[in-house]
Amino acid sequence: MIGSDLQFFKGWFAEFCKAFHLDNEKEQRNITLKETHTLHVCGNILAVGRGESLGPNEMLLAETIALFHDIGRFPQYAQYRTYKDSISVNHGLLGANTLVEKKVLACLADREQDIIIDAVKFHNAFAIADVVDTDKIRLLKLIRDADKLDIWRVFIEFYESPDEEKPEAVGLGLPDSASYSEEILPLIRSRQIISLARLKTLSDFKLLQLSWIFDLNFTTSFMLLIERDYINRIAATLPQTDEILDIVARVSAYVGEKLDNG
Ligand SMILES: [Fe+2]
Repeated sequence: MIGSDLQFFKGWFAEFCKAFHLDNEKEQRNITLKETHTLHVCGNILAVGRGESLGPNEMLLAETIALFHDIGRFPQYAQYRTYKDSISVNHGLLGANTLVEKKVLACLADREQDIIIDAVKFHNAFAIADVVDTDKIRLLKLIRDADKLDIWRVFIEFYESPDEEKPEAVGLGLPDSASYSEEILPLIRSRQIISLARLKTLSDFKLLQLSWIFDLNFTTSFMLLIERDYINRIAATLPQTDEILDIVARVSAYVGEKLDNG
């Protein structure tokens, strides 16, 4: 893959987004959210890739994966008006199918197409499947980190912005309640990632976002997480009970361990 391929993909992506523009201001906010998210994820993957000393070709592949990782979001929203996969469609799979159907990657070698399509397909999987292919795994881990690093920004901005400016789809329609489900806490204490199916309130969702930290892969990602102060900023929006403060301390301790061992 060469630099001009990436330029072509960026142009293609811009045109693709345009086709999903909605005149309704509130709805268009949800579309813009994903366009902006994509640009940030591209920036994140380059930052993590540089930190982890990726070669030039792998950097190009990584940026392409970031550019296309959420293209499934656009047809998903167009058809279902939600970003909730459980009630609509798996957006990773839809994105991968879109790339194949529209032959977007035709200018690349088969092997590169395969790597990109699989990374898009599995970027949102609950856990990474047992793939033996080490190049694929590395890029899949990179997109998963780069994506989470920006999802945290999206949520924090959502929590911090006035209601009338909030892109509605971010909260997944969960009730904005300070109460949280007690049964989630032991899972976080044992360093497990919470599944979306367990969520009852927006506070549960915040706890789930903290649990994503256990799924980060690269030292550079942990460094960016700390630099951006995401843990404390999410924690500040949760009820300040003893058990929540304990959870936050445990998550921070996990990050500390990762950075010490990295
Ligand atoms: Fe996604």
